[in-house]
Amino acid sequence: MTTVLKLGGSVITDKNDPETVAEETLRRAASLLAEEEDIVLVHGGGSFGHHHAAEYGVSTTDGTGDTEAIRIIHGAMHRLNTAVVDALAEAGSPAFPIHPLSAASRDADGELSLPTDQISRMNREGFVPVLHGDVVVHEGAGATILSGDELVVALATALDADRVGVCSAVPGVYDADKNVIDHIDTFDDVADALGESEATDVTGGMAAKVRELLALDAPAYIFDIDGLDAFLADKNPGTRID
Ligand code: IPE
Repeated sequence: MTTVLKLGGSVITDKNDPETVAEETLRRAASLLAEEEDIVLVHGGGSFGHHHAAEYGVSTTDGTGDTEAIRIIHGAMHRLNTAVVDALAEAGSPAFPIHPLSAASRDADGELSLPTDQISRMNREGFVPVLHGDVVVHEGAGATILSGDELVVALATALDADRVGVCSAVPGVYDADKNVIDHIDTFDDVADALGESEATDVTGGMAAKVRELLALDAPAYIFDIDGLDAFLADKNPGTRID
């Protein structure tokens, strides 16, 4: 029973302060995750990834060949990943880092290739892989951003996950009146409330997230840190998407 869980960048970092970890929330998440084994973790960029990516004009589609820019964006994400893995290790989790720049890439159409043998083997040995949004080599475009959300979708599909969780800054997907929607099973139901805008960060907003999660076989949940405990206990926090 494999679970793929993303810890959103805005949950584990202070989005307004460059390269600042939200220490208390990260510790809280780590202690809830300490006993989990059959789980693959992904985290986003928050204040470590987005501003560097924006500064160098790199997005999921706009690439760069500037080696310094690539090292700076990756370096920031690497530092955040180290903070996440350290917090997990301190809580007792058998967590190890996997850096997408070293493993994944995109072809000329932007299609992601991500080898997952070592990830599933880590899991089978009782270890917890921790991946992160990153820059990845993109054929013909230098390097582009790979978001944590895209990783979640790729991993859930490749590993045939049973459950997918996205722990974000909001308690679920809001309707037009700002109430959390319990269950989404078609995009049409929420298109008006979400708008079609791609937008608040370099990797797209809630509409894109919902679309991608709807396409998965496994049920996906969007919830905030207060819902993490319930998600790990197989309950239904926030918004269920399937
Ligand atoms: C962003 O990953 C990674 C970089 C900008 C390098 P995400 O798009 O998944 O990050 P959050 O969760 O929205 O912060």
